[in-house]
Amino acid sequence: MAATLGRMGMSARFSGEIVQYYARFRRGYPPAVTDRIVEAFGLTADDVVLDLGCGTGQLTTALAGHVGTVIGMDPEPDMLSAAAARTSSNQQPILWVLGSDRDVPVLGRALRPLGALTVAVAIHWMDRDALFRTITPMLRPGGGIAVITNGVPLWLHDTDWSRELRSFLHAWQGRSPSACQTDAAGLRLNRDALTSAGHHVTETTVDYAAPLSVEDVVGGVLSAMDLPPEEERRRFAAELTQRLRAYAPMIEDVSVTLQLAVPR
Ligand SMILES: C[S@@+](CC[C@H](N)C(=O)[O-])C[C@H]1O[C@@H](n2cnc3c(N)ncnc32)[C@H](O)[C@@H]1O
Repeated sequence: MAATLGRMGMSARFSGEIVQYYARFRRGYPPAVTDRIVEAFGLTADDVVLDLGCGTGQLTTALAGHVGTVIGMDPEPDMLSAAAARTSSNQQPILWVLGSDRDVPVLGRALRPLGALTVAVAIHWMDRDALFRTITPMLRPGGGIAVITNGVPLWLHDTDWSRELRSFLHAWQGRSPSACQTDAAGLRLNRDALTSAGHHVTETTVDYAAPLSVEDVVGGVLSAMDLPPEEERRRFAAELTQRLRAYAPMIEDVSVTLQLAVPR
């Protein structure tokens, strides 16, 4: 099911072809991540959870079996279409809503209190201070906010394959690739904003190791870039594939961080 709140298609960064890379190559979340969220806020089949910046639904679909309804909300129609396509064949209780952090107040007026707001790999695109203040009165007693990173970007691992990737990207882009606020400074921004909005914050990680093919790395990196035109993209993929071949098979140590906040 899909509904529209307005404010569509905010940036080319998350529309068009990039969505296919996102849907195919971005990792989902292991059960331990949803378990921590469910435990932190005592979520049950009576709860509604808002997954804001849901993208192609990685966390939304993982949460769906644990609560009454998950609202996957994102300002990008292409992201939502790909998310809805993943779930069209089953009966998961998910409502896909087109809207951004700025639409949350309108949504709140239409809903009963939320069990949780989840924001996974998307908070850096939002006005977090305004969002946390807006959402707080929309939470049911015991409910809370989970801000999640899905580990650090592929180019920031302490491994030979990641160092090779880092040096390749540095040469390709003429600058160091960013941490996308998955680093200590980014986590501090969330913690400070949650604390200022009147929350008590606890932090935890879910750590696991997963295999990565060269294709996974190339696709994952492309999903995080301003997608170059096709010919340049092919050259990028061919050169990076060549550089990484020597490191296969690769392993990624994924450390998902969860900042779990409840009103004080
Ligand atoms: C990197 S994706 C994260 C997708 C997914 N939550 C995950 O864990 O993989 C970031 C998403 O945030 C969305 N986004 C960007 N600005 C936003 C905003 N102001 N409000 C809500 N979502 C936003 C983008 O459209 C994109 O789908």
